[in-house]
Amino acid sequence: MDIRFDGKIIVVSGGSTGIGEATVKNFLESGGTVIFTGIEKPDCLDFTKYQNYQGKYDYKQLEVTNEEEVKSFALYINEKYHGCDVLFNNAGIIDAHILHETPTQEWLRTMDVNVNGVYYMSKYFLPQMIKKGGGVIINTSSISGLQGDYTFCSYNTAKGAVANLTRNMALDYAQYNIRVNAVAPGSVRTSMYSKFFDSVGGQEILDLGHSLQYPLKRVTLPEEVANAVVFLASEQASFITGINLVIDGGLTAHTGAQHNWELVKIIRDYNKKEAKQK
Ligand SMILES: NC(=O)c1ccc[n+]([C@@H]2O[C@H](COP(=O)([O-])OP(=O)(O)OC[C@H]3O[C@@H](n4cnc5c(N)ncnc54)[C@H](O)[C@@H]3O)[C@@H](O)[C@H]2O)c1
Repeated sequence: MDIRFDGKIIVVSGGSTGIGEATVKNFLESGGTVIFTGIEKPDCLDFTKYQNYQGKYDYKQLEVTNEEEVKSFALYINEKYHGCDVLFNNAGIIDAHILHETPTQEWLRTMDVNVNGVYYMSKYFLPQMIKKGGGVIINTSSISGLQGDYTFCSYNTAKGAVANLTRNMALDYAQYNIRVNAVAPGSVRTSMYSKFFDSVGGQEILDLGHSLQYPLKRVTLPEEVANAVVFLASEQASFITGINLVIDGGLTAHTGAQHNWELVKIIRDYNKKEAKQK
């Protein structure tokens, strides 16, 4: 299956690092024109990795919580590229506190970047897609938006909002031939992951912990999320809308009950006894 985006204009928020960066690379390799954004100034980033794609990519520093900035960015895309075909709303931040210890500023900032950012970007790019006769939006939610984590009170709330906003948008914009889906990754090895978890024991301890928790015995790689995003954006996913595609190595397939070999032994003995009695 050859997925191609030749002639397509793709906008990626939070495309400067991590999952977004891996997705930008995938879209470029598949022939798309990619305009990506990040919170970083351009001179803080290394663009040499895109040297084979001159004229096919563009970077803008963009604060997704600033409605006016988002509005003029959308205007720029409309004027220079005649509108957007694919929007990947990926910019996001994490915060970890239990509720009564969450500083109000951090609660508000987590909501602002993760939820309002998706709202502003979608608000100003949807009219371009409607005008073009269709499009695709992919949001980055998280398994933390589908289930709860210890200490992630603001993040759980924000990603839960993104997960359900995705369903709502899929319903409201199907009439315009716009599909809206989300990717819901588990832990992904990016700077967000290392920055956040370094403070609680460092990369090695964390990777070990995750290898014990995840059925596939490791954390997700950014490229594995990027592959799912590109698939959802492609014609191959033409009848998929309104889903949160979980990418977590099987973590949330589990009920959460402790794995207990004593219990397994009791059940096996019971089954054997039952079988003998029949
Ligand atoms: N890493 C994980 O374990 C994980 C798991 C599930 C979901 N996610 C989500 O994936 C997305 C990408 O995260 P990542 O892991 O690649 O982390 P990352 O820190 O490498 O990337 C975050 C991106 O968001 C941008 N960004 C941050 N604040 C912004 C703001 N105010 N305005 C505009 N852009 C801003 C950054 O410039 C960067 O491009 C986030 O939405 C995150 O919540 C990450």
